[in-house]
Amino acid sequence: MKLHPEAQDRNARLAATAPQVLEALSPLARRAFFPKGIPFQAGQAAGCAINATIGQITDGEGNPLPLAKLGELLGHLPAKDAFLYSPIGGRMRAKEAWHAKLLKEDPRMEGVGLGVVSAGICHAISMAAELFFHPGDTLILPDLYWDNYEQIFGIRLEGDFVRFPFYEGSGFNVAGLKAALDAQPGRAHVLLNFPSNPSGYSPTPAELEAIAGVLTEAAAERSVVVYCDDAYHGLVFEEVASSKSLFFSLLGKHPNLIPLKCDGVTKELSFFGSRVGFLTFGVAKDAEAILVDKSMSLIRSGVGSPVGLSQYLIEEELLDPRHDAEFERLRGILEGRYRLLKAAVSRPTPQWTVFPFNAGCFCLLELREGLDAEAVRQRLITEERVGVVNHGPRCLRLAFCSLKDEAIVPLVDAIERVCGKM
Ligand SMILES: Cc1ncc(COP(=O)(O)O)c(C=O)c1O
Repeated sequence: MKLHPEAQDRNARLAATAPQVLEALSPLARRAFFPKGIPFQAGQAAGCAINATIGQITDGEGNPLPLAKLGELLGHLPAKDAFLYSPIGGRMRAKEAWHAKLLKEDPRMEGVGLGVVSAGICHAISMAAELFFHPGDTLILPDLYWDNYEQIFGIRLEGDFVRFPFYEGSGFNVAGLKAALDAQPGRAHVLLNFPSNPSGYSPTPAELEAIAGVLTEAAAERSVVVYCDDAYHGLVFEEVASSKSLFFSLLGKHPNLIPLKCDGVTKELSFFGSRVGFLTFGVAKDAEAILVDKSMSLIRSGVGSPVGLSQYLIEEELLDPRHDAEFERLRGILEGRYRLLKAAVSRPTPQWTVFPFNAGCFCLLELREGLDAEAVRQRLITEERVGVVNHGPRCLRLAFCSLKDEAIVPLVDAIERVCGKM
């Protein structure tokens, strides 16, 4: 397919300012550009007295015409924010509020642009992958990972996977990451999710720096795209575990190193149905503007535009003076459950060993040899009315984020009883 002149223009600008980023783009991303079509023209006409651009049903003065029930339910919200389209790349107020939150977490965010709003974190990862992952490329990741990466990188993008053992002793396996990168010639993609689903592990600050060092070194002579999945950011329960994103440690390290931050409100704001995520590009601002433009092409051709109503709601939450204290309250609730579960799963038992965990929403048990995780899971449902998730042939993932305190010891007792019978 011949590249559209607009795409050629974006690519030429990237070639001039950040050739390494252009080099890393997927064929789809090279074709992508945000067209000067309806949303663009509507944006330009936003201040016009008569605006006959966009297909939004209004009173002719820019106000929505809600139906009765929806008007009642959302009547206390500003009508335009509640009912009208979001800009394709997301609402400026949402992006600025999120950027300010990240800047508070780390001053290195100062030099990073606003990125785009996605329809949840999964969509941010998927977009990041569409921008940089060439069909058939290989993704390097630890062997304990969120199963949906297989859908995104494997099923959708026909990728292969190189998995290295997550742990070395009781810490993150930095040497394993290095070995996987050393064994991979040419363009490399690495996905790291901290705190981890399913292991509940967040690296120490020293491990984070070591990971950043390995990734920077690997980028000396080829592009290394790093997908930082920060879905569980901030849910950290031990002093030794870093609550910083790896993303910040990768900024400005090498022009070949392209850090992408995928995060959002799903867990951090405990707002699961909102579908608000963010994709942030750790590249120079000129290149960032073009990646935003190309992302807007993916958004427009995929979900159309991100959800406006929930962006408005999360803006209000982030700007609320109680927000930090409220997040801390949420983290505290989870920390209580974490401590109870840690004590319960750490008691001596021949039935499992527990992987080191210090953060997030989960812990992972490796069942003793001879036990099949799927069989244990089935018997837990039928014999104990207890639901857990199996992970690979020998592991069970326990989501303590959704347990009340009183259920934690009974859950662990039930697992021990069922394993004991098998
Ligand atoms: C590691 C990880 N990344 C991303 C997501 C996706 O989040 P969202 O629901 O916002 O798409 C999840 C959700 O469970 C997750 O566990």
